[in-house]
Amino acid sequence: MRVLNFGSLNIDYFYKVDHFVQKGETQASDMLNVYAGGKGLNQSVALSRAGAEVYHAGMIGVDGTFLKEMLKDAGVNTEYVEKSQNIRTGHAIIQNDSMGDNCIILYGGANQAITREIADNVMKNFNSGDWLILQNEISEIPYIAEKAAEKGMKIFLNPSPMNDKIFEINLDCIDCFILNEGEGKALAGLQQSDGDALIKQLREQFPHAEIVLTLGENGSVYAGKDGIVWQDAYRADAVDTTAAGDTFTGYFMAGRLHGMPVKEALTMASKASALAVSKKGAALSIPTRKEVLEFEVK
Ligand code: RIB
Repeated sequence: MRVLNFGSLNIDYFYKVDHFVQKGETQASDMLNVYAGGKGLNQSVALSRAGAEVYHAGMIGVDGTFLKEMLKDAGVNTEYVEKSQNIRTGHAIIQNDSMGDNCIILYGGANQAITREIADNVMKNFNSGDWLILQNEISEIPYIAEKAAEKGMKIFLNPSPMNDKIFEINLDCIDCFILNEGEGKALAGLQQSDGDALIKQLREQFPHAEIVLTLGENGSVYAGKDGIVWQDAYRADAVDTTAAGDTFTGYFMAGRLHGMPVKEALTMASKASALAVSKKGAALSIPTRKEVLEFEVK
């Protein structure tokens, strides 16, 4: 079974700061790193490192060649990564504070230049046995989801970053949502809710779909055909949370693809994301399957 990830590729400009810049403040940063990133790219790397056969589709500009190389090196098929000659690659400006937390400004660039024609050219090569993963950083997501549903592909949605565009997708065709608490509340239209109430509400709202809700240090929870399954988070010395969610998504999906029971897939995904936060960078911080299997619980 193959996974198609139709998703973003970003150049991440990663600035170390004491605290997130406040209104009217200018703050000097004494460390800038440039990394391969983008929720799409990160999830493809995680899927591949977890052992899945993954095809990445998306678009870069001429400045983004290293992103495609990075995907290839990680074992991802890149024949559907297009290069625009006149649009720059998407990028993210990431502030990483002294607690290891981050905040991100995203510029879409070539990620937002995906057309229906490009989508058709990719989608014609995939069929009902294949799985699709989508995030919310490229153009034409509703169309891509519609085409995948017509083919009977299994569709995973990570509605991140969450905004109104998510509601343009026919959410009834999504087979599995993988999302964090903030995204879950926005999808459910709730202001306040704990993990337990939220997952029940999402399950009621999308009874045909599986839901995987990540809750930071409170772990994660699944609701779907296999009932409700809770997973604790693993402790890690956090230096950078970038791509932790992407790592979780890729590892959970690969686990399910390999026929793992939900609990085992959640355990692998939680260990993988704990390892990811203990390293700097986005794609660079995503562990291999061997590292996840060798992870020692603190
Ligand atoms: O999820 C982390 C990613 O979000 C970063 O790599 C950045 O590119 C943004 O897309």
